[in-house]
Amino acid sequence: MCGIVGYIGTDSVRDIILKGLKRLEYRGYDSAGVAVKDGGQISLLKKKGRIEDLPKDEIPGSNIGIGHTRWATHGKPSDENAHPFLDCSGNISIIHNGIIDNFVSIKEDLIERGHQFTSETDSEVIAHLMEENYEGDMVDALQKTVEVLEGSYAIVAIHSKHDEIVAARDQSPLVVGVGDGENLLASDVPAILDHTQDVKYLQDGDIVRLKKDFVEIWDMDGNPVERETKTVDWTIEDAEKGGYEHYMMKEIHEQPQAIHDSILGRLKGFEKLDLKKYRIDSIRLIACGTSFHAALVGKYIIEEISGIPCMVEMASEYRYSSRLSEYPFTILLSQSGETADTLAAAKEASHRGCKTLGITNVLDSSLTREVDEVVYTQAGPEIGVAATKTFTTQLIVLYLVAIELGLMKRTLSVDKAETYRDELRRLPRLVEKILDKSEDIKELSKILAAAEDIFFVGRNINYPVALEGALKLKEIAYIHAAGYPAGELKHGPFALLTDDTPVISLCIKDNTFQKMLGNVGEIAARGSPIFGVGEKDKETEKLCDYHVHIPEVLPLFSPIIVNVVLQLFAYYTAYELGRDIDKPRNLAKSVTVE
Ligand code: G6P
Repeated sequence: MCGIVGYIGTDSVRDIILKGLKRLEYRGYDSAGVAVKDGGQISLLKKKGRIEDLPKDEIPGSNIGIGHTRWATHGKPSDENAHPFLDCSGNISIIHNGIIDNFVSIKEDLIERGHQFTSETDSEVIAHLMEENYEGDMVDALQKTVEVLEGSYAIVAIHSKHDEIVAARDQSPLVVGVGDGENLLASDVPAILDHTQDVKYLQDGDIVRLKKDFVEIWDMDGNPVERETKTVDWTIEDAEKGGYEHYMMKEIHEQPQAIHDSILGRLKGFEKLDLKKYRIDSIRLIACGTSFHAALVGKYIIEEISGIPCMVEMASEYRYSSRLSEYPFTILLSQSGETADTLAAAKEASHRGCKTLGITNVLDSSLTREVDEVVYTQAGPEIGVAATKTFTTQLIVLYLVAIELGLMKRTLSVDKAETYRDELRRLPRLVEKILDKSEDIKELSKILAAAEDIFFVGRNINYPVALEGALKLKEIAYIHAAGYPAGELKHGPFALLTDDTPVISLCIKDNTFQKMLGNVGEIAARGSPIFGVGEKDKETEKLCDYHVHIPEVLPLFSPIIVNVVLQLFAYYTAYELGRDIDKPRNLAKSVTVE
């Protein structure tokens, strides 16, 4: 997830691009860079660090330029890996957001043909491919270039001899800002709002040419197309939240894209993660907070897919547990990679002689230096304190790790692995279906907002999802909530059930379904209002007072879908109560003290 800005017009690009990038800083901020057409050549300035670290005065005065703020995916944050990139001739400069899946083979071919690279990124191949494909027309060169790219991209490019900017998009956002005698390109609307409110949203496969007084667009088949110009009446602050009232809601809605990116990133990431070199007979998963819940779901995922026994521990507890003479492969999960308890647990695990894998969302974070192996989730920066899309992408990584382990241990057939990967690829669409139900969930949340205690119950792999649903509600709505395995309520918590105690019951059609319905029946008999979440089913609906349908999904993958329903319950309940959703009281996004 990176930020892109391009400008062509009559003003000096310097301030326009830097200001635009600043507005996109929420998309990533480990390095930044600018390329401008400076007479008949390209001037380039890029640096590790924040946008303020770019020496502004060194950017030449020009009316055509492109800028980028990076959130590293391939290659650590550094001056060399910062965008923009140049081709060998120095005439073409590009910036890219997305992931080029087949960059390794493209790069090898380009090197064989004499191209020299300056970075470890996947993006740099684009500049060199454009150089090879350039025969006088930049749109033509870009069209030929994207034909060989697999993955996702928003690409913006300039040439030292042309007064124009060209761009292409596929599965990464890119908008055109249509001004008066000036035109802009950006990953998101906030970057262009100072200049214009007229926006064209590009579609997947579109290629565009911007001159200062016109915009031409071609679709994926190369046919000229018109894309409607829409006028956005957002303030800058609205725009930074994508038009949502809170970052949390924006981040909930980013999950289909985040799932997609994490699958792409990981399928390629595995080229580097070689688990075969470790002896993995048992696994311990360690984390805090929402990441701990992902670890609990991970236990079910890994045991089911690979047959390897797993145990899960809270980081703050693990450190002081007895040192037994066993050396499980240890997986540490942390969105931020900076949580003090998790870092201390990582050190302790290594000290005890365990091999370790870190799963984190932040490149180069402290956790990455404490572990033997790292896998990144591709959620992009998460600003809301309550973790949403990062939990979802942690699960995606755990599914993919489990599939690798299953194949490695030969407990999973190649065919079954493909079935699982297909199901993973369906998830973004299934999450969209839940997001389409937001209005219904909002209505039901008005009932929850009146409660003082709420129970969440689930069985099997959805038991930890119940825990996460309860945590989300506590965090942002400040309502006491508890998650339980549905079969356990009768061993004590039943004493708390009244007709004012809603019970959110996760009724998924897995091998515990009939038992779950039995438990729901027991709860109903105590008079508690029951909010069912599950596939369409007459019997469930008879037992529940309210029901949110989820689409049919393999039960093993249901946590992703069910959890989105619970995120929406928490959000709308907190909203109804007027809570400070993005910055809940007493909490911090990253807890760096033990
Ligand atoms: C804090 C946050 C939680 C988060 C936990 C672990 O308590 O408020 O949302 O789940 O830390 O954070 P990590 O970055 O390690 O996943």
